[in-house]
Amino acid sequence: MNRPYVIVNCAMSADGKIALPTRKQLRISSDEDIERMYNLRNECDAVLVGIGAVLSDDPKLTVKEKYVRNPKQPLRVVLDNKCRTPEDALVLNDVAKTLIVTVQGNEKQFEGDHIEVVGIKADDGMHVELESMLDLLYQRGIKKLLVEGGGTIIWSFLRNRLVDDLYIYIGPCIIGGKNTPTVADGSGIKNEDDLLSLRIVDVNRLGNGLLVHYKLMQ
Ligand SMILES: NC(=O)c1ccc[n+]([C@@H]2O[C@H](COP(=O)([O-])OP(=O)(O)OC[C@H]3O[C@@H](n4cnc5c(N)ncnc54)[C@H](OP(=O)(O)O)[C@@H]3O)[C@@H](O)[C@H]2O)c1
Repeated sequence: MNRPYVIVNCAMSADGKIALPTRKQLRISSDEDIERMYNLRNECDAVLVGIGAVLSDDPKLTVKEKYVRNPKQPLRVVLDNKCRTPEDALVLNDVAKTLIVTVQGNEKQFEGDHIEVVGIKADDGMHVELESMLDLLYQRGIKKLLVEGGGTIIWSFLRNRLVDDLYIYIGPCIIGGKNTPTVADGSGIKNEDDLLSLRIVDVNRLGNGLLVHYKLMQ
């Protein structure tokens, strides 16, 4: 399969949480990590999130000029099985183009030439099938894709072994909470044989936290 190079990037607390127990966003990254994240975004052809992140965080997914001079504003991709992206979501602003990827038959119109909706076949769990979605992005010239979350989307990419690089910033804090979102939510593995093993490529101190670069072992 031809697919873009897939980079997953996220920030977690020392106890593996990526948001507040209410699912609301909070800042875990240091200033240095924020700057790295914007530069990474700018290096990629597209930035992808799930509808869960859109509904809880309302991200713009653009590159701030404060961090990157003359940003190229990668394509924003939202995985949204039922086309629930609110009309006034910031990810639909006209600073960059947005592609909403939904399940075939659930397509909806949005106002603005910079917004496109495509329907893709569903997988067994009635979600957008990731391989078909990646094939489509590749055909459209997306060679490097940044996946920014949330935990359900990251789990789907990992479980389907569609991750080339995994960057996790570990902030020096504890959030706690049994149901607080983590780096990899979804169903999780069923038994030990299914373990997704990682290889550590690099560990660096970045501001007051740690940046760990992993590769998924085949
Ligand atoms: N710290 C960080 O770096 C960071 C970054 C981003 C987000 N977050 C946090 O993550 C949380 C949101 O994560 P989330 O897990 O609720 O939502 P999510 O991962 O953003 O989105 C999950 C949703 O995407 C849709 N989807 C479409 N195709 C899919 C596929 N192939 N596999 C799985 N899901 C698919 C499904 O919803 P439908 O069926 O309704 O379409 C699914 O429920 C928030 O609390 C946010 O603050 C943290």
